[in-house]
Amino acid sequence: MMQPFIKLITLLVALLGLATALVGVIGFIVFLSYSGIQLPSLAGEDNAVPQPVAEVPIPKALADPAGMWRAPDWPSVDFEPNAADIKYGKELVANTSEYLGPNGKVKAISNGMNCQNCHLQAGTVPLGNNYGAVASTYPKLRARSGTEEDITKRINDCFERSLNGQALAKDSKEMIAMAAYINWLGKDVPKGEIPAGSGIYEVPAMDRAADPIRGKLVYDRQCQSCHAADGQGMPRPDGKGYIYPPLWGKNSYNHGAGLFRLSRFAGFVRANMPLGATFENPMISDEEAWDVAAYVNSMDRPVKDLSQDWPDISKKPVDHPFGPFSDEFTEEQHKFGPFKPIREARAKSK
Ligand code: HEC
Ligand code: HEC
Repeated sequence: MMQPFIKLITLLVALLGLATALVGVIGFIVFLSYSGIQLPSLAGEDNAVPQPVAEVPIPKALADPAGMWRAPDWPSVDFEPNAADIKYGKELVANTSEYLGPNGKVKAISNGMNCQNCHLQAGTVPLGNNYGAVASTYPKLRARSGTEEDITKRINDCFERSLNGQALAKDSKEMIAMAAYINWLGKDVPKGEIPAGSGIYEVPAMDRAADPIRGKLVYDRQCQSCHAADGQGMPRPDGKGYIYPPLWGKNSYNHGAGLFRLSRFAGFVRANMPLGATFENPMISDEEAWDVAAYVNSMDRPVKDLSQDWPDISKKPVDHPFGPFSDEFTEEQHKFGPFKPIREARAKSK
């Protein structure tokens, strides 16, 4: 009566033993192949199929964080005699649209973007287009206007170009506040010095022209989830600024803005986009940055009368995309590169 039952148990125990042995053998083989010990090849050396080596991109910091400019501690602002101005200035840089945008409660003079959409965290992020070198280097002679510019003129440049709007009066409460804030940020930098980590990262030049078609692939993969397929971003529901700012179209920067130069756009994006990237933990490559810059800056955007810019045309940066030029390179090459030949020709003619 018990006989078949015992037989069954014996069979099961035997099967279990076999399975354990099998797992052991497989485990040993896996161990061998991972430990790098060469297994004898059944196929022979000649027929061995080369295994593709998986390329794992290792994130690489763009610069050494040691010794980089950092903003003064915010609470220390209370020791300043003009603390109220500085605080209002920071508020205006962070929430420009609320005060000075299309429905601004002070004045409607700009396109709805905030300064800090481009000057990240109110202009304090290392290589995030920060204001670390402004107090120490202004006033200065700027070749774009051919005049000496103080900080208020430079702020108005961004109002008229990056924010596609109008200038603020120099003696307005708002201008005094923004200048006070930017001066305070740079107060510890010795006059004339440009500290490490200030401004925008310089992306190494490519040997080829930047390619808008490759750039569109980058855009679709890495940018459009926030900035939208049509580049218009996403406005805040209350109409005060953007959750995701626009990259082209009527609400974006105009073609006289800094970001319209390929090197400025590529440098900003390389170290700061997609959102969450930093210079220490960048998310796209040099090439992707140049190509996506070429794509975005090929799309429609507001135009500005630039006829008064660059009174000395030989001072135009190599990536200024509008002629006439003092060299024989085309507008196309000045817009998309390659920039090295232009630089070399300029160095030779000097
Ligand atoms: C669409 C992007 C964008 C917006 C918005 C913007 N800026 Fe700028 N700003 C730039 C770029 C690009 C530069 C040039 C940086 C460079 O050439 O290294 C710049 C340069 C500046 C500079 C000079 C920095 C230096 O080191 O020489 C100041 C000051 C400035 N902006 C202030 C402002 C203020 C204030 C606002 C808001 C009223 C503003 N910007 C809005 C993109 C922007
Ligand atoms: C996860 C969302 C997200 C992704 C993805 C993203 N961005 Fe942004 N981007 C933002 C936000 C938010 C800001 C504004 C930052 C702020 O105000 O602090 C911004 C700002 C910008 C700006 C400056 C402001 C403007 O509108 O001109 C540029 C240029 C830009 N992004 C380009 C890119 C590019 C190119 C990519 C793809 C490589 C990208 N971004 C991917 C969210 C994103």
